[in-house]
Amino acid sequence: MATDFAKKEKPYELFDKAKRRGTWDPSELDLSEDAVHWEEGFSQAQKDQIMGTFVGFYEGEESVTRTLVPYFTIVDKLEDAPFDTVQEEMFLSTHLMEEAKHTDFFARYFEEVLGTQETEIDDYEESDYWQNPDLKEFLVDDLEAIGERMRRTARTGDQHELRYILAEGVMHYMGIVESQLAKAGYEIFENVFSDISDDLGTEIMPGFQEGIKLIRMDEGRHITNGRWVMKRLAEEDPDIVTEVYEPKVEEYLERLTGQQAADDRYEDYSFDMATLQRNVSNANLRQTIEYIGPEKFDNFGADFDIGAYGDAAAAGD
Ligand SMILES: [Fe+2]
Ligand SMILES: [Fe+2]
Repeated sequence: MATDFAKKEKPYELFDKAKRRGTWDPSELDLSEDAVHWEEGFSQAQKDQIMGTFVGFYEGEESVTRTLVPYFTIVDKLEDAPFDTVQEEMFLSTHLMEEAKHTDFFARYFEEVLGTQETEIDDYEESDYWQNPDLKEFLVDDLEAIGERMRRTARTGDQHELRYILAEGVMHYMGIVESQLAKAGYEIFENVFSDISDDLGTEIMPGFQEGIKLIRMDEGRHITNGRWVMKRLAEEDPDIVTEVYEPKVEEYLERLTGQQAADDRYEDYSFDMATLQRNVSNANLRQTIEYIGPEKFDNFGADFDIGAYGDAAAAGD
């Protein structure tokens, strides 16, 4: 079966962009100033607090690098798919390469700037890198478990099961890990760096900021492709929205938001974690819902608001 290039779809367009724009090299970023800033610009308390976000990213990038392959396998098994599977696999090849580069960037950053490769909780006495254990579970263990189920389904599942497991994986990986958790992380870094830059009167961690700018451009393509695949699957079978997408988003809201009251990770910085997370969730969930089609959802609309959702969920209990 040859790819019909007369019918170029979104994944091809994103693949084409990735060929040109996703070619930056983590090894070429200059991190020398960052090492000095980390040594001299941060108090120990500030270091301990932001270290959790660095670790979350490092482990997160490694996790998404390790768990993307089953998506290729599922896509390849689809028959009469609501999209061109070859073009989707072409895009995924750039996605995988880019995640590997992001892992490479964080590995280098830990080595050359943060001075450790340690990502285990107990290494830093004063900080618990993963204050919400659900975060690590969602980001690492659950992605791995979904990948495992995908591999099994690819061998034994029927066409309906292949579509449903793909939908679940895409919502978890691209719909939440990449578009909710990673984006909240970028905002945390931005806020932390702007606090320290103000204190020092100079732009801090320039190598990291450049790296994150490039990573965010790559991630934008991954998220767009994920939303597009979810939309196509929902057009083919609208039940997939209430049976797969919605429960996954509800699980995310229950497990990973609204727990900031007990979260003192960023108390030495000026921003409010709960507000930051609410804003990120509102903006990104609205975009995802809007893209897939708000009319297909039972409990979420285009005006989704995490605060109102929490109230409604509590009233419904
Ligand atoms: Fe990434
Ligand atoms: Fe990504």
